[in-house]
Amino acid sequence: MTPDRRTFLSQAGLAALAVGTGALAGCGAPARTSPGAPPAANTLSIPASSIPVGGGTILDNANFVVTQPTEGEFRAFNKMCTHQGCPVSDIQGTDIHCRCHGAKFSIEDGSVTNGPATEPLRAARAELDGDQVKVSA
Ligand code: FES
Repeated sequence: MTPDRRTFLSQAGLAALAVGTGALAGCGAPARTSPGAPPAANTLSIPASSIPVGGGTILDNANFVVTQPTEGEFRAFNKMCTHQGCPVSDIQGTDIHCRCHGAKFSIEDGSVTNGPATEPLRAARAELDGDQVKVSA
């Protein structure tokens, strides 16, 4: 049976819509998470010994930078730079550095030590529990 003209145009339109939708799904904004990638942790424990005294550690799979300004004193901050949201990149002396535009933040309190950021890093919670530092947002 041959479809009449109206049925044919309707089906052709649906097919074109399906193709167009598929094409749109293939472009545009990138996916928010990579398939199979673990979500960034918001609560975790890390060995206190992994955080250098007078410095800090930027966690790869969590949203934190954890510092130890003086022995036994731990601090934690959200690792997203308050300038334009890049994750901070490294610790330089007593500063947490963002390589995107050069902002620096104190390992002591997250305050800005070098612009262009104007707001401190957002503080998180860091508590020593035995030989572990428990960090949470
Ligand atoms: S996003 Fe960090 S300095 Fe601009």
